[in-house]
Amino acid sequence: MKDKIALVTGSSQGIGQNIALKLADVTSGIAVHYRNNRNAAEKVVKKMREKGKLAACFRADLTKEKEALALVRKVEEKFSKIDILVNNFGPILVKSWEKVKSSEWDYILHSNLMSALYCLKAVLPGMRKRKWGRIINLGYSRAEQLVAFSKITPYAIAKTGLLILTRSVAASEASAGITVNMVSPGLMEGGILPESKSVPRGRLGKFEDISSAVLFLVSDEADFISGTNLVVAGGWKI
Ligand SMILES: NC(=O)c1ccc[n+]([C@@H]2O[C@H](COP(=O)([O-])OP(=O)(O)OC[C@H]3O[C@@H](n4cnc5c(N)ncnc54)[C@H](OP(=O)(O)O)[C@@H]3O)[C@@H](O)[C@H]2O)c1
Repeated sequence: MKDKIALVTGSSQGIGQNIALKLADVTSGIAVHYRNNRNAAEKVVKKMREKGKLAACFRADLTKEKEALALVRKVEEKFSKIDILVNNFGPILVKSWEKVKSSEWDYILHSNLMSALYCLKAVLPGMRKRKWGRIINLGYSRAEQLVAFSKITPYAIAKTGLLILTRSVAASEASAGITVNMVSPGLMEGGILPESKSVPRGRLGKFEDISSAVLFLVSDEADFISGTNLVVAGGWKI
């Protein structure tokens, strides 16, 4: 992994930041992406540079296709390639489905589903050329359960859609040496449901739990794993 370059969307904070920092330990360079918080992104970059890694931060609103394409182009210009894409950005909206406004539906579907599609379509040509690529989409632990989610309906639809996209692209890109997988967190520390009692493992998820799953799936050891959904949720609601 020493010569690999990774782009992690939404890596100025939270799960994405941790994934980016952990990936920095095993790759040669990381593109840190943010939307508003440049200071936070620059701090992440500084930590990586202190470890002797190539790192830079890039701004983009990934709900807009043009900005997603420009982000990928800028990262490829700066680092000459993208080997690993982690589509991490994906906000939740907790609201009864009938109260969700059209603009909110639009935002949740674009941020969780379309942003990943825009980014992955843009990185595929380079990955195909080099015959190696890793794409990880962040899901959520119940994305495979086709049941009623009346308080998070757009989010659940978007994440289940993202899983179908993950498997569709995994199947079509396998011959090009590109794997596409989903990592699905459950209840997390700092998340919207800070309720550890309902988690069979007896604790909430930590950022490191998610990063470890991502690190495994981008490694050479995971070369034959594509189209999987790795649920990292301590046995919650399985
Ligand atoms: N956290 C949880 O409890 C949990 C549980 C299950 C699944 N997940 C999934 O795990 C992933 C990470 O979740 P998270 O809660 O850590 O973070 P998140 O809210 O999905 O992402 C935060 C990041 O996204 C950036 N961002 C904000 N608006 C943006 C926009 N319009 N375009 C592009 N980027 C934008 C932020 O940048 P700025 O800092 O500049 O604003 C920040 O870097 C998500 O896919 C989420 O659905 C999370």
